[in-house]
Amino acid sequence: MTFMPTISFVKYAAPKKGLAIVLAGEGGALGDAAAACDPGKILARAFSVSEFSGKSGSVVDVLAPEGSSLDRLVAIGAGKAEDLNEYAWLKLGGTIAAQLRKATEVAVVADIAGVAITPADVARLAAGIVLRSYGFDKYKTRKDEANGKDTPSKPAKISIHCAEPSAAKKAFADLQAVADGVMLARDLVNEPANVLGPVEFAARARELEKLGVKVEVLTEKEMKKLGMGALLGVAQGSVRPPRLVVMQWNGGRAKARPVAFVGKGVVFDSGGVSIKPASGMEDMKGDMGGAAAVTGLMHALAARKAKVNAIGIIGCVENMVDGNAQRPGDIVTSMSGQTIEVLNTDAEGRLVLADALWYCNDRFQPKFMIDLATLTGAIMVALGQHHAGLFSNDDELAANLFAAGQTSQERVWRMPVGPEYDKMIDSKNADMKNIGGRHGGAITAAQFLKRFVKDTPWAHLDIAGTAMGTQANEINQSWGSGFGVRLLDQLVRDNYEG
Ligand code: BES
Ligand code: MN
Ligand code: ZN
Repeated sequence: MTFMPTISFVKYAAPKKGLAIVLAGEGGALGDAAAACDPGKILARAFSVSEFSGKSGSVVDVLAPEGSSLDRLVAIGAGKAEDLNEYAWLKLGGTIAAQLRKATEVAVVADIAGVAITPADVARLAAGIVLRSYGFDKYKTRKDEANGKDTPSKPAKISIHCAEPSAAKKAFADLQAVADGVMLARDLVNEPANVLGPVEFAARARELEKLGVKVEVLTEKEMKKLGMGALLGVAQGSVRPPRLVVMQWNGGRAKARPVAFVGKGVVFDSGGVSIKPASGMEDMKGDMGGAAAVTGLMHALAARKAKVNAIGIIGCVENMVDGNAQRPGDIVTSMSGQTIEVLNTDAEGRLVLADALWYCNDRFQPKFMIDLATLTGAIMVALGQHHAGLFSNDDELAANLFAAGQTSQERVWRMPVGPEYDKMIDSKNADMKNIGGRHGGAITAAQFLKRFVKDTPWAHLDIAGTAMGTQANEINQSWGSGFGVRLLDQLVRDNYEG
């Protein structure tokens, strides 16, 4: 088992037991509190032997010498003071978590020579520890040794030594809410599709009621009544019925228009009759990454009691091959009244979102809508896995999203929309077709969604490359990354609260 460490905050005091982790500035400079952990100056020798420069993320790990009551002493480079931005603190926390190994009693001394460390910085350090410590191992029945893991047999107790522990604790409570939202999203993405079907997903979303979120779950019958032919057409090939989940967090002023987030929740995407190749199809258990991010975000906003009115809507369906599955060439009528010729049953995400976006706009008249979807392979061709694709009809919203991406380092890159691309999805037999030909696949997908948002400010995030299977990094070691939760929490924090 990977255990989540428990974190507490204390005033600087020289740690006496277990593992002590100190931060070192440029050139390996130690602050006073850090130096107090190393009266024998063993770190100075180790720095010199290993040519440690204090570069961000670099590590020196020594056994405590005779006469010390500690077990181990670890120094972690914090890099240049001017580079210590919000994300750098999270990353440092992640690097700390990576050094724990078997330690169960850990002191982290948040002190760097010449750097004024704020309670918010300390909180980010702690949040980085939490995010890095996440692992999805609920289906591993053997012990860590057998799984080749070097983790303790019980949760580590980490005390973070800092100047203002109660302020740090308060700041951390807020970030813990966000980290919990990220981990919820990761859990949902990692969960296999046999366990997490549309009904089960809706039940997980329902649990947010505990946090004061209002949750409604629409069944197939209700969606039929609303005329959601596009979403239902995707769902009809699965023995598991679809669900549309509507989450509402009312933390803002009573009359304030809500902001809205809409997620693609395809719990498994076989491609349908336009079936996908076998190789790699297992990854399509993560085709609900958008819905996971929306659910995780709603958790974060509610748990930190964000001063905003926010709607989260997720369309949960399974795209399967079956005697009752929809066929290429089928024409469906969406809730908007617009008809769609389904030329490829594997372009199903846009069909689900078409009805979810229309419903959201129609019912809530939100200030803006942002949808998240693992929508196209084409976005990975365009941007790789380091940026999500951003498409928008609103420059201000796009700029705010870009800025939130830079701060959170869940980065987005704006892609074009326009009438020439829109034309590519006109259909001979219906109002539109669900694919646009070989070129610009991520753009024509966005163009399709745009036909369901009217003039409401809208942004579409294509997270096919970023929601899952990304390179492990300082704050994420899991296949499901939880991408989008920190990004959108940052967006709300910076622009839409109060
Ligand atoms: N869920 C996929 C997109 C995807 C691919 C997400 C790989 C994550 C990793 C989506 O439903 C899909 O199949 N898109 C097709 C669209 C095509 C048929 C126009 C694609 O990208 O190939
Ligand atoms: Mn598909
Ligand atoms: Zn899909």
